[in-house]
Amino acid sequence: MKISDEAKKIVEEAKVWAVATANKNGLPNVVPIAYARILSENQILLMDIFMEKTRKNIEENPNIALCAWNSKSKGYQFKGKAQVITSGKLFDEGVKWVKSEENLSPKAAIVVNVETAYIITPGSDAGKEVK
Ligand SMILES: Cc1cc2nc3c(=O)[nH]c(=O)nc-3n(C[C@H](O)[C@H](O)[C@H](O)COP(=O)(O)O)c2cc1C
Repeated sequence: MKISDEAKKIVEEAKVWAVATANKNGLPNVVPIAYARILSENQILLMDIFMEKTRKNIEENPNIALCAWNSKSKGYQFKGKAQVITSGKLFDEGVKWVKSEENLSPKAAIVVNVETAYIITPGSDAGKEVK
């Protein structure tokens, strides 16, 4: 699975992403996240500024699902495994990104290694996996 340029363009128009995690017992948790962007063809970066349950969930269960869509209701769902990063180049770049927008101090960068992607745009392709 590779995140296409088309998918990247659409999801980066999203003002906010839905980010779902689950604890070790499978209890779900979904939150809105504005600091989300495509890092590479199979990685997404989320910035942890205020995460509590989300962060704890990732630490005990790396499974994660994300959704983002633009103002024309075109969008994608991504599923994969999340990893918490609290130092190094990627973390520093993420902090710089957040600080360039708002005076906030991120606690961690969350890297999502995307395994599958699905179309969420309403229509005949809704729910189909992007190969
Ligand atoms: C529109 C919107 C955008 C947000 N963006 C972020 C974000 O980029 N990073 C972050 O850590 N929290 C962000 N938040 C705050 C979290 O969604 C919020 O703190 C949430 O309660 C975290 O819940 P949790 O305890 O389930 O992790 C945002 C909230 C809203 C309403």
